Amino acid sequence: MKDADRAEGEQVPERGIGLSRRSLLKAMLAGAAAPALSKTGWGRAAARNPLYFPPTIYGGNVSLTCAPAQANLGGGHISNVLAYNGTFPAPTLAVRKGQFVNVVLHNGLAQETITHWHGMIVDEQNDGGPHMAIPPNGSHSYSYPVVNRAGLNFYHPHPHRLTGEQVCLGLAGALIVRDAEEDALGLPGSLYSGAPPLSVPRARATPFSSKYEVPLILRDANFDGSGNLRYNPGGNGFFGDTPLVNGTIEATLSVDASVYRFRVLNGSNARVMRLALSNGSMFRLIGNDGGLLEFGSQVGTFVIGPGERLDVLVDFRGYAVGTSVMLRDLDANWDLIEFLVTSSHAEGNIPSGRLSTIERLANPVRTRTFEFEGMNKVNGRSFDMNRIDFQVPFGEVERWILTTRGTAPHPVHIHGASFQVRSRTGGRGQVFPWETGWKDTVLLLDAETVEVLIRFDRQAYYSGPQRYVIHCHKLEHEDAGMMSNFVVN
Ligand code: C2O
Ligand code: CU
Ligand code: CU
Repeated sequence: MKDADRAEGEQVPERGIGLSRRSLLKAMLAGAAAPALSKTGWGRAAARNPLYFPPTIYGGNVSLTCAPAQANLGGGHISNVLAYNGTFPAPTLAVRKGQFVNVVLHNGLAQETITHWHGMIVDEQNDGGPHMAIPPNGSHSYSYPVVNRAGLNFYHPHPHRLTGEQVCLGLAGALIVRDAEEDALGLPGSLYSGAPPLSVPRARATPFSSKYEVPLILRDANFDGSGNLRYNPGGNGFFGDTPLVNGTIEATLSVDASVYRFRVLNGSNARVMRLALSNGSMFRLIGNDGGLLEFGSQVGTFVIGPGERLDVLVDFRGYAVGTSVMLRDLDANWDLIEFLVTSSHAEGNIPSGRLSTIERLANPVRTRTFEFEGMNKVNGRSFDMNRIDFQVPFGEVERWILTTRGTAPHPVHIHGASFQVRSRTGGRGQVFPWETGWKDTVLLLDAETVEVLIRFDRQAYYSGPQRYVIHCHKLEHEDAGMMSNFVVN
């Protein structure tokens, strides 16, 4: 099996930037004029661009190179970006629980980098925290077994003070974990994912498993005068004037009148999004950062911060061909992507009843408080790479209280474990349906205090103490030092 998996991994350079992108580039060079970049507002744009699907790599054996590249962000709009393996967003990695992830990372940038597997439960060597950064031309090998349950994870650079810039310029991708519990639900798109034992026939290997499951990496972007991605953070973090979905400006996706599973990631540096469908219909929420929830529920509007994920079903059954539904960010007044019903073919259904069984953390043995303050402080101190701020024992449930001192939003993220949100006091004063189950990132708005329960489990392959970080995932806060080192042992 290993060899088959590796062979699939080696497809990367060939799939590279994507054929359609390449031929569009050709067309452009042949003289087609690039349409002017327009901002996306309410209403349907005259001509939207087909949603880009990053190539999917199955099996976990991957060589990843980060380097400058060019990408067609839609309509022939070619931009200089930073990319993993030449694609923006990065290839989607799809692995199964129990499988190994073997990644060799090569740094083709002019500055240091390191890749972090946001959401993956791994040891320090494989976590890709800031102290693991490698220089230009350097490389780092990762090898770890997937202990996570099925879910959508997020890989991106994590070098101290450079994370915001590298992510903003294009380095980010999805890592999707499958497991038997998820297979049993027969969710849209999982048709091939359960194929024994661990890989998928090559012919079916792209785009992502089947057309009914679609990763949607949402973010904002700014462009310079030549149309290249630009990193120009303001005092309050990076805010772009143009939304991108999978790196596509004004994206559109042709859908059947079927049930779709959207794997949503807020991949913005700093932007909190309030997501809703333009026709007022509900999403069926089935999962979040840490995988499936115990039960699905109907949700009309989500508020998600940078680093948070959603697993939602959208039911287009019964929609007439020609119907257009927008996924909107109500806060920015943006149409992020259009779903255009182009076929009456109807399949799929909404699972009712229990989706998953989730162990409930309880009886914390101690409490710690983390105060996120200003632009750069946790508990009054700014990040110091060489200072370990606290020690946590493996295997004990702890209560961590996350609180803000007026400079929210702070999407707080913890490496090394998933946690469970117990309460939110102040501000919105409640725990939302998408914050149940397992999380690794939780949003604090102004005046909010969130209480979580967390336990770090020592995995069989861990040896000795493991060092992790807790930080604000507003990347400009993180880069400024709103991050703290700790050691679990
Ligand atoms: Cu997604 Cu420590 O970051
Ligand atoms: Cu992380
Ligand atoms: Cu913050």
